[in-house]
Amino acid sequence: MKLAILSRSPRAYSTQRLKSAALERGHDVKVLDTLRFGIDLSTEEPDLTFRGRPLSSYDAVLPRIGNSVTYFGTAVVRQFEQMDVYTPNTAAGIMNSRDKLRATQILSRHQIAMPATVFVRNRGEVSSAIDMVGGAPVVIKLLEGTQGIGVILAPTKKVAEAIIETLHGTNQQVLIQRFVEESKGKDIRALVVGDRVVAAMRRSAQGDEFRSNVHRGGSVERVELTPEYEETALRAAHIMGLRVAGVDMLEGTDGPLVMEVNSSPGLQGIEAATELDVAGAIVDYIADQAGFPDIDVRQRLSVSRGYGVAEVAVHAGSEMVGESIEDSGLLAKDVQVLTLHRGTSVFPNPADSKVLEEGDRLLCFGKLENMRSLIPARSRRPKKVRKLPENPILEPVAEEAAAAPAAPALSATDPGTGSDA
Ligand SMILES: Nc1ncnc2c1ncn2[C@@H]1O[C@H](COP(=O)(O)OP(=O)(O)O)[C@@H](O)[C@H]1O
Ligand SMILES: [Mg+2]
Repeated sequence: MKLAILSRSPRAYSTQRLKSAALERGHDVKVLDTLRFGIDLSTEEPDLTFRGRPLSSYDAVLPRIGNSVTYFGTAVVRQFEQMDVYTPNTAAGIMNSRDKLRATQILSRHQIAMPATVFVRNRGEVSSAIDMVGGAPVVIKLLEGTQGIGVILAPTKKVAEAIIETLHGTNQQVLIQRFVEESKGKDIRALVVGDRVVAAMRRSAQGDEFRSNVHRGGSVERVELTPEYEETALRAAHIMGLRVAGVDMLEGTDGPLVMEVNSSPGLQGIEAATELDVAGAIVDYIADQAGFPDIDVRQRLSVSRGYGVAEVAVHAGSEMVGESIEDSGLLAKDVQVLTLHRGTSVFPNPADSKVLEEGDRLLCFGKLENMRSLIPARSRRPKKVRKLPENPILEPVAEEAAAAPAAPALSATDPGTGSDA
């Protein structure tokens, strides 16, 4: 295969190892500086230039996008995707993992255990947010920190409030997170490649430091993961849309707590700790997958007018409970079940004879009209929005505004929007 490694640091350990692993396996490999690309949108076919000249064709690309160039770097990766070049980590996956808030939002939707986290912006909400995650000591995190920079342990509530206020004052957004004391300055880094955890290590913080990052002087040792930790790491990486990832987990009393998923995991620490050829595993995986570039399924399936994808939940009391997919009425409506999600298991392309259980979630493709009745109405309080008058609304004159019956109905203080205000 012809592989491009996108990296700004050709001499870094990880880049060197990936390059030599590819060469050893007889692949054609180039390390290309991410910032020397040009995204060419002038022609019908999406294209890229490199150092001002048209880029030759590649089978696969391995992005190693540093934090400081996320915007441009992910745009380049997205362009490779548009050109149907395989990448183990999509632009969306990289962006998801880069922002700690966004990552937490996505993972929490899929039953991945994480330390309790709250995000607030207003000064008045800080105190209750700290209480919500269990009070001091509490961890404060900048949204886009890495290598432990921007992760602070505040010993008391007063100190926490002062730090958060200072950061908000300089327009920096922070997460407030429960301090997982039982992990005692240690965490687990699992290196996910495709559908496997290929290597794992435990990192231990130095002295009274609580951050175990190698860049903060943390030491590393090889560790055998239990199936629970392996499964959590794999699911977290896949949910983020990453096939090469470093998943960081704290060892909580009740099992793994995912802290973050890194889309460009460093290889030096983990290869040293485990003496495993992680770079080789990455290259082998990419060579194996290169024929299957990522497809934005939702987008592709939605281009036919009237068709789309929808998630159908099998609720308690639903007529579908206990029925096979065949007898559930879905096929009669010409609705195809693409995947069945049951708890943490996924059944891709389930057989028609598969019997549905309460709590199942079905990812379906079909006519939106036919699927509408399968999706239960949302139980949210309806907003009281008055119907628009048939005649166009005229700008009310100042004095008349309060009395005018045709005044615009939407306002922030509309009592119909609920009591949260
Ligand atoms: N909620 C927490 N409880 C205890 N330790 C934590 C917590 N969050 C982070 N840490 C420690 O701080 C380190 C850095 O945090 P992390 O969220 O991974 O930020 P970074 O992206 O800077 O690595 C972790 O590896 C872990 O050792
Ligand atoms: Mg980390």
